[in-house]
Amino acid sequence: MVHHVPPTTPGHSDVLVGLQYGDEGKAKVIDMIAGDYDVIARFNGGANAGHTIDTPRGRIVLQQVPSAVFHEHVTLYIGSGCALNLWKLIAEIELIESAGIDLTGRLVISDRCAVVAPTHFVLDGLNSDEISTTRNGIGPCYADRARRVSGGERSNWQLRDLLADTDAVVEVMRRAVEIELGAASGLGADAREETEQRFASIADCVERVRAFAESDPAYLSRRVAAGANVLFEGAQSLMLDVVHGDQPFVTSSHTVPAYAYVGGDLPPRFHRSTIGVAKAIVSRVGNGPFPTELGGEASEEYFDAASRSGRGREAESAEYDAEALLGSDDDYDLGVALRMLTNEYGAGTGRPRRVGILDLDQMRTTVETFGIDVVYLNKVDCLDLYGRSRYEGVPVKTTSANTGASTVTVLPVFSTENCDPSDETSLPAGARKLKDFIEEQVHVRVAGFGLGPERERMVRFADAPVPDLVGADSHGGA
Ligand code: IMP
Repeated sequence: MVHHVPPTTPGHSDVLVGLQYGDEGKAKVIDMIAGDYDVIARFNGGANAGHTIDTPRGRIVLQQVPSAVFHEHVTLYIGSGCALNLWKLIAEIELIESAGIDLTGRLVISDRCAVVAPTHFVLDGLNSDEISTTRNGIGPCYADRARRVSGGERSNWQLRDLLADTDAVVEVMRRAVEIELGAASGLGADAREETEQRFASIADCVERVRAFAESDPAYLSRRVAAGANVLFEGAQSLMLDVVHGDQPFVTSSHTVPAYAYVGGDLPPRFHRSTIGVAKAIVSRVGNGPFPTELGGEASEEYFDAASRSGRGREAESAEYDAEALLGSDDDYDLGVALRMLTNEYGAGTGRPRRVGILDLDQMRTTVETFGIDVVYLNKVDCLDLYGRSRYEGVPVKTTSANTGASTVTVLPVFSTENCDPSDETSLPAGARKLKDFIEEQVHVRVAGFGLGPERERMVRFADAPVPDLVGADSHGGA
């Protein structure tokens, strides 16, 4: 017996998350569908994210501002679950404004966001090599949010505290430098100078952010109740969730879709659907388990040494012949070749990313566990490189229907070079086969294949219930 009738709401919210280890091309999908929404909202993470968008107006890499800056009617909301890096936020706002985009009235930041303090960067640096963090202070910031008090003083500062009395907060933050870092080894002159620079500019940053701060925790609820549609933009990805990923090789926030309704400041009653984004050639930028990594342990060790020494794209292209490595008998070489030929280097850092084959077992588990309705798969155009590898086809990890054991299935190779992304019938048979195979193995609808970095290089499948088509009649301008 039904005890209540679920509410029908004028507006809706969808959640978009990465299904693998980050860098799946989420920003490109957001940029493509953002025009169908009124608000794009972030709910987790901070400047550890690097969201690259290629548009006819140029390329822009965003870290904290949601990836819909090129859609002028769309509000960009930063929810209270995010860790704000004020210094980088100001630089990002200036970058966006220098591209001729006015953020006045469009960028809205919850004043309950945790602010990354100068000490957090240093603390992150001290332990960063173990898990290769992005050194943005995110982990220590969230840790201090949970700790609340340290050495008898508050340890967590929300944006609203700084807006109310910057000087008083900065005074306590300064005392924390001595308490937290006084005895810490490795706090060299550089770290002290960097910390000083952050203190010197924090008050200016707070003043610049003031115009964008929102003090009403019901801001989004009110808008959606009045008919606005929201798309939540997940940062990092499911395999990096602080609880569901493999500790300690995770980020420090929740990346699962349900967290959008905590860190995104909206009640779950408005939820409509969940969109997953994955990459056909998988990559991971940090240490930690990666079951389908090409080259296995040797590749992980190489990544670890490269990130410690700063070795990246330039060193590799000077030293290696990617085409020769592509045909090698050794998967380690194939991984290096795919990284070079498909440009798998950190968007900001240039660090080499670890590369692996598509893992449909992992995708099935994440889709089932976290409730993913449709999947966009990026970099499908890159799969043709496997045709020149020892696999002579596209290797994907699956489970054998007969034995239940993990196996590598090799699918036919295909080229998408001559495809018209606006016409799904122009896709070759091999691409259709890949779509059917994923749907059968993962039990999810494939909504689109990315065939290149630009927004328009995405084939969308008409038979997938893409969220902006469902309920388009209730799309409001609120
Ligand atoms: P943190 O989030 O800076 O603490 O880093 C923790 C781990 O998450 C490291 O392995 C990072 O490389 C990884 N990570 C954090 N943000 C991203 C992202 O946006 N894309 C991919 N990996 C990320």
